[in-house]
Parts: sequence; structure tokens; C-alpha cells
Amino acid sequence: MDPALIARLAADLTAADFTVDGLTELWGEDAAAALHRGQRVPASRALTDSPLSTLARALVLGYPVDPAALDRALPTLTAAGAVTLGLADAAGSPLLDLRPYSVVDARGVAAWWIASDLGELALGHAIPEHHVLGVGGASTTLSGLMLAEPVELALDLGTGCGIQALHAARHAKRVIATDISERALELARFNAALNGFANIEFRLGSLFEPVAGERFGHVVSNPPFVITPRIAGVPEYEYRDGGMVGDALVAQVMRDVEKHLVPGGIAQLLGNWESGAVDGLDRVRGWVEATGLDGWVVERERQSVEQYAETWIRDGGTRPGPEFDRLYAAWLDDFASRGVTEVGFGYVTLRRPRFGAPTLRRFEHYGEPLGGSLGDHIAGVLAAHDWLQARDAAALAAASLSVAPDVTEERHYWPGEEHPTVMLLRQGSGFARTIPVGTALAAVVGACDGTLSVGTIVTAVAELLEVDAAALAAELEPQLRELVLVGVLLY
Ligand SMILES: C[S@@+](CC[C@H](N)C(=O)[O-])C[C@H]1O[C@@H](n2cnc3c(N)ncnc32)[C@H](O)[C@@H]1O
Repeated sequence: MDPALIARLAADLTAADFTVDGLTELWGEDAAAALHRGQRVPASRALTDSPLSTLARALVLGYPVDPAALDRALPTLTAAGAVTLGLADAAGSPLLDLRPYSVVDARGVAAWWIASDLGELALGHAIPEHHVLGVGGASTTLSGLMLAEPVELALDLGTGCGIQALHAARHAKRVIATDISERALELARFNAALNGFANIEFRLGSLFEPVAGERFGHVVSNPPFVITPRIAGVPEYEYRDGGMVGDALVAQVMRDVEKHLVPGGIAQLLGNWESGAVDGLDRVRGWVEATGLDGWVVERERQSVEQYAETWIRDGGTRPGPEFDRLYAAWLDDFASRGVTEVGFGYVTLRRPRFGAPTLRRFEHYGEPLGGSLGDHIAGVLAAHDWLQARDAAALAAASLSVAPDVTEERHYWPGEEHPTVMLLRQGSGFARTIPVGTALAAVVGACDGTLSVGTIVTAVAELLEVDAAALAAELEPQLRELVLVGVLLY
């Protein structure tokens, strides 16, 4: 952690254009996609003897390089400096993975370099149990969901390489990043320094122990949620396995986070939950209802226990064969012992009410593909919930709503029919929801242009359809509330 050497490394990486775009230009989109799938051959075929190629060969692809070439690629740090920083050994073999990372979100471009432990490809064998993971799919999922509202203090629980802490450090004055792994904290500290962040404090310890008695405006965690059999002979990967039975770790984080949130403070977590005799989302509902927190849980995916076991055994680097089969049996025995048949994966948003009792309790399965930066959308849903809470039926009827600009309507007709059989509202951003609507609701939504009140529109539509206006208003109210909540109608 020599700041002068880290500054030289940053200068050399910048000079070599060691960026996501620089590497994509070097080896092309297809090789980049192959690398994403864990295949480095296409990328390696594009390498030359430029400084960028040398850095990519050693730090991204994990091949040994000639120390003289490393010297040329890192002219101010030098190969000796790279050895001192622990990036490579004196013979030019990489000791760390270091790669560019970039994302564009509502706050602009974040372009960083992230160091982590060497992966399976560079090691040539399964990763060790104390492996510190780089930026993976779950990491980008959580950072893509992250709210960006300014807060004084944020917590990243289980920081690993520090990626969430860096994201949080863009909107929090100060971030505390914790981990049970000293090595993870070392790498996260290195990443913060390399990317010029001075507002992150790193603390060692399990779960909330390192922040006992402290409260945060924002808590983010991609916790070690992977369900693992607790028997001898099954590897316990620190980066994904919190050491508890089943999904108990996620339940505990959800329970304990309450006392670490300031009023109005928000926690965003990823998690797995087991489904068996009791449905997984109902179990999560139970965890949320045991707290005084608002809760919105989105189950993104559900896997059979077989798919789940295969995913995580393979993730640890075990290939099909007798060892794979032994682990597979252990996973199935573990699930069978609790009557678990499926495992859900999803996003949890918890909020400590500013005053009074919680009002938001939403538990949904949403399996459509999602991408991009959803933080502003999630903030919008929470704000819409509060707006709706403050309005009874009369107040909602008095409000003027408008259709969000990303919403389109799709109509399907039986051939030759004059009236549509199916009408769908499609959201172009946020969760990109598709919402079936009936004739009356479609007509009301269609007239919401921010001028007339909801009540006036509903009365006019009732006249048109020759139905009772009060009955129609009562029927449509929950549906209109849902459309406001999810961002189809703007208030
Ligand atoms: C899935 S990784 C997430 C890393 C990073 N935050 C990200 O989003 O990519 C989980 C992290 O939690 C850490 N961890 C495991 N058990 C923990 C515990 N009991 N308390 C705190 N952190 C723990 C692991 O060392 C690992 O770095």
C-alpha cells in the first residue's frame, strides 16, 4: 500500500489506455464476450508487443510475461514496482488479476481498475477457499440497483474487492466497508487508492460486528448468500459462503440491518431463499414482517435444487467427474434434509420509516431480463409509494397524472374484429414491465396527459362505457395506484 507506487501504477495504466474501450478495441467484441464466458484464447490471439497488450496478457489473461516487457509497459512503476505491489513475481508471473471496469449511470461514467485474486484460468486449477472475487454478475447486479441519493454514511457489508464501496463512495460522504477476510480488505483498500477514493474506511469482522452501534443512510450488501452443505469435505468459499445453514445468513442480515439504519435509511441486498413446504417469497415476507422496515423484494429467478447445486459446484471450479458427483450428492442431501425443492434469487430493498409503522410490503416474482442502471427507478418507486400513501381515494381522484414518456400501448385483435382482445402497456425503462389493461383502464391511462384530474377522466370514461362512475372509480383505484407505483403514470 505504497501510495507513491500506486500513483505510478495509475499513471502507467492511463498512459497505456488500459481501459474497457482500449481492450475491446485491442481484441474485439467477440473476444471480449469469449473472455466473459471464461475463454481467453480469442483475446490472446489479438495481442501484440504494445504496453497495452503486455498489461492485458499478464493482468487480465493471467499469462506470465517477460519482466523486460513489463518494465516497458509500466515505465514509471517498473517491473520491480509491480513486484513490490504484489502484481507479479520477479519472473513476470502475475499474482493478481487487475482489469479495467466501466459503467455509465445517472451520475455519469465510472471508469476504474479493479484488482482481485487470480481466477481459475490463470491458476490452471480450482480457486482456493479464501479467493477474493473480482467484479462478477452479482456485483454488477447490485451496483446497477444502487440508489444514488446523497447520504452522510454508507455501509458496504462484505466488500470483497470493494466494488460496491467504490460505487457508494460516489454518493456517500463516507463509506465503511467491512469483510471477514483480511485479504479482501487489503485488495479493496488497494482498489480505493488506485482509483483515488479517500472517503472509504475498511474494517475487519463478521456481519455487523465491525459497525456495532452505528447507523447508516445507505447499506448495500452482496452477502455470501450461497447455500452450502455444512459437512466436512465440501469447500467453503469465503467469497460466497457465510458458514450458516441454508439461507440463514440472508435472514440474519435482513433482521440485523434494522438497527443500523437511520430513519429514512435504505438497505439494498442480494439474496437466495429456499422454497419447500413454504414458498420462498413467503419466507422472505416473514423475515421482512419481523422487522419494522418497509420492504420490497423482487425474486428474479428460481432454480431447482439440482440446477442450483450444478451452478455453484461448477462456480468453484469443479469439473464433471467423481468429485463433482460427490459434491452434487452432498448438496441434494442438504436440501432434502430441510424439504427444499427450489431456491430463489433476488433483490431486497428495506427502508426504515422516518416515523411510524412500515407501509410498504411488496413481494413479487419478476423473471424478465433486467439490465442497466435501476437505482433511479427504485428511488422513484419508493417516492411514488410515499406519494400514494399520503393520498386517499378522494385525493387520488383530485390528482392529475400523466403517462410516462417511455410507455407504449400494444393492442392485439382477433382477425376481422373491431375491438382488441388484449391490451398491454409496455414500459420502456425501469423494470420494463408489461401490464395487461382492460378497456376502461386503457381509456383512463390514454387520457392522462397531466391536465384533467383522475376523477374527471374516470367519470367521462364511465359515461362513455355506460357504467356507474362510482363503481368504476372503486374498481380502477387499485390498478391506478399500481401504475403510479411502478412508474407507468407520473404524478
Ligand atoms: C459475494 S462476495 C461480494 C463481494 C463484493 N461486495 C461484490 O459485490 O462483488 C461476499 C463477501 O462477503 C465476505 N464475507 C463472508 N462472510 C462474511 C461475514 N460473516 N461477514 C462479513 N463479510 C463476509 C466475503 O469475504 C466476500 O468478500
